[in-house]
Formats: sequence, C-alpha cells, structure tokens
Amino acid sequence: MRPTKQIYANYTPEDFLVWKTLFSRQLKNLENKVSNEFIYSLEKVGFNADSIPDFIKVNEKLNNYTGWQLVTVPNISEVNEFFIYLSQKKFTSTCWLRTLKQLDYLEEPDMFHDVFGHTPLLSNKNYSLFFEAMGKLAVKHIHQKEIILKLQRLYWFTIEFGLINENNKIKVFGAGIISSKEEAEHAVGNKSKKTEFNLIKIMKHDFRTDILQNEYYVIDSFEQLSYSLKQFETELEEGCLIK
Ligand SMILES: [Fe+2]
Repeated sequence: MRPTKQIYANYTPEDFLVWKTLFSRQLKNLENKVSNEFIYSLEKVGFNADSIPDFIKVNEKLNNYTGWQLVTVPNISEVNEFFIYLSQKKFTSTCWLRTLKQLDYLEEPDMFHDVFGHTPLLSNKNYSLFFEAMGKLAVKHIHQKEIILKLQRLYWFTIEFGLINENNKIKVFGAGIISSKEEAEHAVGNKSKKTEFNLIKIMKHDFRTDILQNEYYVIDSFEQLSYSLKQFETELEEGCLIK
C-alpha cells in the first residue's frame, strides 16, 4: 500500500540513496537542457541531493512565494480531482520513491517525478498563475468531458512536456521531461519535432503516456500560457472547441 501521508522517519537508507542518485544524475543530465528558471526555482525551494524534501518545509517555502501547497496522494489523481486541487493552488503529489532496481523506468509517477519535476516551478509567479487558472477553468466545465479533455492536452504539452525558448535556445520546463533522463535527451535532440506553441493545434493533439513524445511545443514565456487560457475561453464562447 502506498503512503497517503509523508512520515519522514519512515524513509529508508535505500530511499535516500535513490533520491541522491536520481537528483545528482538528472541535474547533470539537465545541464544546458533545462530552463534557467527551473534551476533558479530549485534553489528557491531548497532541494539538494542529500535530503529527501520534507513536505512541511517545502510547503512553507511555496507558501511564501506563491501560496501553493503540496497535498499528498497515494497514486496519480483522478483527473477531475486533480483539476479541483489545482484551482485551490494545491498540487497532488506522491511521497514514495521507486526502488534502486527501478531507477530508469517506472509506470506510475513517484515523488521524484512529482517533487523534483513539478514542485520547483510552483514557486514561479507566472507559471503558478497559469496552473491555477487552468484548474479554475476546468472546475467551471468539470462535467463537460470534451472541454476537460482539451485542458488535459494543454496540461500535457505544457506542464508535463513543455519546452521554452530562452535566449534563442530551446530548453525544457515540463516535469515529464525534467524527471526522465531519456526524455530530456530526446526532447532537445534532433530526432524530435519542435513546434511553436499553438493552442488550437494542442487542443486537437491526442497524446500517449507510454512512449517518448514525438512532438513538443515551444513557448516564449510563462505569460504566454496565461494568454492561451484567455484564448481558450474565447474559443469556448464561440463554440469552436466543442467540435
Ligand atoms: Fe506529472
């Protein structure tokens, strides 16, 4: 059974070794690949290789920067529950770690993905404003499956697998890329397609969760994401997105 609450004293020496190995290895792998804003945010939340983040301390830090909080869940949240939490500036996170044998591949997200990948940027004002607004928009349309699906696609191609143009260099900011060695290499490499961020295209773009992505969308700034939600609402009012 997965833990539903973080009890720090329950982490084992193997957990600490898994965190340290993944943290050190992935930080090195992300050199010149990850957004500067992520590196800056990582310092803001105080993560390091030697200690597994303590949610109480992380929440104090996030609260000071943006008012966001981590809420512990045993497994990946059901989609509507996930969006409802987002609308309240709460991110659902697991608090267990993969084993040493599972370092490179895991079928479901663990806390290395949720905490290392997702949490630092929750301290960024513009990124977190977009995330909250996405949750609020979802709550407004929570019973309309087609709209929720389109928001899931927007979430997928930004928060999970988004790229950003920083000083004419394409960098990663999506948590699904940040927490995966293979995906990080693939995302910035020559074999994957990079497309300028396009809300309408993303709304129609179905995704798979079990393969490396073959197309990524590149934003210019986190502010652009908030503008895209306004466009989303306009499209909704004009009835374009329901089709
Ligand atoms: Fe994720």
